[in-house]
Amino acid sequence: MVLVDSVTRAGQSLVVCRRQDGPATEDDASPLRPRDAATGRGHVQSGHEPPRLAKFHVPEIVFGSGSLSEAAHAAARLGARRPLLVTDDGLLAAGWPQQLGRHLQDAGMRPSVWSGVTPNPKDHEIAAGHEHYRAERCDVLVAVGGGSVIDAAKGIALLAGNGGVITDFEGVDRMVNPIPPMVMVPATSGTGADVSQFCIVTDTLRNTKITILGRALVPDVSVVDPQLLTTMPDWLNAATGLDALTHGIEAYVSRAHNPLTDHHALQAISLVGGHLERTMDHPLEQESRVFMAQAALEAGLAFTNAILGAAHAMSHQVGGLLDLPHGVINGILLPHVVRFNAEPDPARFVPIAQALGFPDAIGGHWSQALAEDASEWAAVEVRRLADELGVPKGLAEIGVTEADVEKLATMTMADACLSTNPREATRDDIEALFRQAL
Ligand SMILES: NC(=O)c1ccc[n+]([C@@H]2O[C@H](COP(=O)([O-])OP(=O)(O)OC[C@H]3O[C@@H](n4cnc5c(N)ncnc54)[C@H](O)[C@@H]3O)[C@@H](O)[C@H]2O)c1
Ligand SMILES: [Fe+2]
Repeated sequence: MVLVDSVTRAGQSLVVCRRQDGPATEDDASPLRPRDAATGRGHVQSGHEPPRLAKFHVPEIVFGSGSLSEAAHAAARLGARRPLLVTDDGLLAAGWPQQLGRHLQDAGMRPSVWSGVTPNPKDHEIAAGHEHYRAERCDVLVAVGGGSVIDAAKGIALLAGNGGVITDFEGVDRMVNPIPPMVMVPATSGTGADVSQFCIVTDTLRNTKITILGRALVPDVSVVDPQLLTTMPDWLNAATGLDALTHGIEAYVSRAHNPLTDHHALQAISLVGGHLERTMDHPLEQESRVFMAQAALEAGLAFTNAILGAAHAMSHQVGGLLDLPHGVINGILLPHVVRFNAEPDPARFVPIAQALGFPDAIGGHWSQALAEDASEWAAVEVRRLADELGVPKGLAEIGVTEADVEKLATMTMADACLSTNPREATRDDIEALFRQAL
């Protein structure tokens, strides 16, 4: 049975199709629709109706090798005279902030550098960054770094416009005042934070990562320079690539997906499947880095508009508890969540499997059994990729214990990302998923 819900989420009115859980019906075995014109891939109908209303919010995007200098022009266009250049120690060691600082100076600005961010940015770091922003009388945020740096910059912008403490803004559209302009330069190929309306911050009192959502958090300009990816250590390349894959898959099956997000989600899945392993084997090869930068970007465009699902809702809790790489946790959780979501309705996972290399159905007919095979194949393929990249088999290997499961499940139920998971998940379901993933 299909219910069509009109919901307001993240400041946008979205019309989503909600599928009630229950046994698969004959309808689920519906044949392929004609090949999708944009992706060239087939679709299996899965009870999702086309949306009556689709919104797609994106920043201005500059993409290409050597585009770093464009960030300075973008900041100047936004009126910057004293931009705050947010970055971290790892980026400073790689030399990218120094290059960007010179570009900003060449364009007539006096940047002030702040690098007090650590991975999984902490609430108190954002407070310190905001203090620096005020003391230095800055006007625009420019960030170069991974998702942690970009989220810290968003947090600083949010406080600059609204005051208070960052944890007060947990949830959807809690900020009321405008915030300063933001130019983001991603240095990893994964998070999509440079185009997203998300800001993920560690609440150090509760040892969890909170999700702050709002259209105001979509940066003004994203400058994607794939050259920056060549200094990533291998573990980070693997982790962020798996993060992009998780974004693509969760956005594609999200309750809030629409044809615009579908296109980018499938493209991202296909690009990660086709190029992530090659970047591990040939780290300095430009071509595969460009494809991975595009994958991360398209995954970001998909999930910022379609939101995410249970893998992210669960991953945020583990990341807050153990301060571990976000993409690695996603890589462990994703196959389990794919199986859970595909169980009542595997059809939506068929295009995902195809994007990862699953062959077309003979004669174009996808029976229920074949759709089940394809969704199981997709789960196995995600795990194979994770194995190839050296991701631990289970959460126990990274330090999660049985004693943590109840608390992790309780906190997962409150995470904004769970609301768009395609299958209704009870607290017991989430506990069971954590146990499977141990
Ligand atoms: N806001 C969003 O939409 C969104 C989406 C997904 C994830 N996230 C968040 O992003 C964070 C993870 O970000 P991440 O995976 O990009 O990594 P990160 O920003 O946490 O960086 C990890 C480490 O890698 C180093 N590093 C990053 N890029 C480098 C480069 N090019 N060369 C050398 N060193 C480099 C950093 O200095 C840092 O020490 C998590 O907190 C996660 O929750 C946010
Ligand atoms: Fe993510």
